[in-house]
Amino acid sequence: KSPDYAEMFRAHDLLQKFYHHLLVNTKEGTVATKYLQQRGFTEEVINRFKIGYAPNTWDVASRFLEKRGFNLHEMAKAGLIVRKDSDGTYFDRFRDRIMFPIWDNQGRTIAFGGRILYEGEPKYLNSPETKIFNKSKTLYGLHLARPEIRKKQQVILFEGYVDVIAAHRAGVENGVASLGTSLTDEQANIIRRNAENVTICYDSDSAGINAAYRAASVLTNAGCTVRVSKMPEGFDPDDYIRTYGYESFQNNVIGTSLTLMAFKIEFLRRGKNLQDEGELVAYIEEVLKEISLLPKAVERDRYLRALSEEFSISLDALKSEQYQIYRKLR
Ligand code: UTP
Ligand code: MN
Ligand code: MN
Ligand code: MN
Ligand code: MN
Repeated sequence: KSPDYAEMFRAHDLLQKFYHHLLVNTKEGTVATKYLQQRGFTEEVINRFKIGYAPNTWDVASRFLEKRGFNLHEMAKAGLIVRKDSDGTYFDRFRDRIMFPIWDNQGRTIAFGGRILYEGEPKYLNSPETKIFNKSKTLYGLHLARPEIRKKQQVILFEGYVDVIAAHRAGVENGVASLGTSLTDEQANIIRRNAENVTICYDSDSAGINAAYRAASVLTNAGCTVRVSKMPEGFDPDDYIRTYGYESFQNNVIGTSLTLMAFKIEFLRRGKNLQDEGELVAYIEEVLKEISLLPKAVERDRYLRALSEEFSISLDALKSEQYQIYRKLR
């Protein structure tokens, strides 16, 4: 690879260390440290995830990089600083933010996610895509999680950086996150190469639940066996852990995740009034369609029976309906 790749990697590595140093060892970092402490970040996770702080100035990073001989034009292309069109000078992209390094599969820093302290927009400012950062092929935390993923033959998929870190604190160390975008086929293939079983543990708000439904199908297409974990509405894994603790997270969220079919049945039920005849019929059609997609007759039979019992519909009627849907789908 051309030398500018090497320079980009080196700049990210040095800047990551610098931001970490500013967080941990300097007075400027104390407000950020306090924020992290309030959110339950321990010294151990701050070190393991190499979290840093970009101070509230316009030129700390650019001066740091310039002093080390980096070409600022290249550093702007690396997404670390920004070129001002009006006069061609450079300023820091990340200011007054908690810095989460993002790594490639080998653990090289290739980008940053910068969180604002407390409230503000955007909440997270991320590096742009560059020659070394392809968002759709990156999973946050993968190289740190890999040993545990291999051991458990399972990946836990989260929405956010902070969720991966909070889960790690809770002893769940096989977590990765999809970087805010919807899960891509490339990300799913990377997951599949590391383990077959995936538990989706997205935020429990509408956006998260809808995203989980989509991610489940992307993962299934990649050959993964998917489960989906459940949390009280409105919580994300980090909120949950801070409210209910480590043990409850392991036992009641990760440990009692739903099979994909059970999740879909709940998902399809969302927002429907099953007392209403029309909505009930529509719901049953949708469930039958999902049942038709199950590869095993025994499984199909089991869900058909459950449906029959719950809504007092004859099993024969459900079976013939399901068969028609099955024929239409083929
Ligand atoms: P969330 O909004 O759920 O944030 O976005 P979070 O992870 O719970 O963060 P905290 O707890 O408020 O600090 C989930 C993920 O979406 C991406 C980030 O990767 C984030 O971790 N995101 C979110 C962005 O890239 N930009 C944003 O402005 C917001
Ligand atoms: Mn350290
Ligand atoms: Mn969210
Ligand atoms: Mn969240
Ligand atoms: Mn959160």
